[in-house]
Amino acid sequence: MSALIISGKELAKEKRESMKKEVELLGKEELQPGLAVILVGEDPASQSYVKAKQKACEEIGIYSVLYKLEDNVTETELLNQIEALNNDPKIHGILVQLPLPAHISEKAVIESICPNKDVDGFHPISVGKMMIGEDTFLPCTPFGIVEMIKSKGITIEGKHVVVIGRSNIVGKPVGQLLLNENATVTYCHSRTKDMKNITKQADILIVAVGKANFIDASFMKQGCIVIDVGVNRLESGKLCGDVVFEDAKEVASYITPVPGGVGPMTITMLLFNTIQSAKKSIVTVK
Ligand code: GUN
Repeated sequence: MSALIISGKELAKEKRESMKKEVELLGKEELQPGLAVILVGEDPASQSYVKAKQKACEEIGIYSVLYKLEDNVTETELLNQIEALNNDPKIHGILVQLPLPAHISEKAVIESICPNKDVDGFHPISVGKMMIGEDTFLPCTPFGIVEMIKSKGITIEGKHVVVIGRSNIVGKPVGQLLLNENATVTYCHSRTKDMKNITKQADILIVAVGKANFIDASFMKQGCIVIDVGVNRLESGKLCGDVVFEDAKEVASYITPVPGGVGPMTITMLLFNTIQSAKKSIVTVK
């Protein structure tokens, strides 16, 4: 058996086409969604993510502005920049690309973003609302993963989801979102004992570890759905996921590729959140 591919690239294209039309309609009402992206330092991966986010905004008509700050910027300078953007009516979403240099508190930065503009869904208020199932900005990668699963008509309710990884950006929230959809969720992480025994029970296996080819088919139950969140650059320059794709696709029923899987959906959901934020801003003003 060879797994069916869940193409994030194709789903992202579909969603972005309909969002482009929505942005055009909003333009007729004199509303252009605006996203501010702050990049601190010269990390090459962060630079390329930020570039992709800006390009995606441009393609669908979202106004975007990039603030490139030096590696040695002070925390106060960064917080002042965020405060200015919190008060800028042209800006509906603020994204500070992570990770930040060690001298800047990620917590202070995330908490300084106005929750109404927190299109990353990282603010504790957004996280709390997500946890209790209230309407809020959902974090983009987990949101994109849920959309990918649903796009194939896969029922989430009652499924056993195993998440490998417990980061605040992906692992923890993706488990929570799927729990909100009535899945049974188990988390595995670096201290988990006998991980294979757990992952082999997964109907849906989500791998967000950040280690190239970390999980192969021996960790999988026949017919499981595999979501590979990893984006790892090999010495050859080639991108690969956390899952050994060629091996896993012989066991799984569905699998996401790398590249062209979760990555394009993360950016798509950022665009979605920015448009939602712009629409909410008129409701708030009225
Ligand atoms: N770094 C890696 N992923 C993300 C993301 O989704 N948002 C931000 N702000 N930084 C990241």
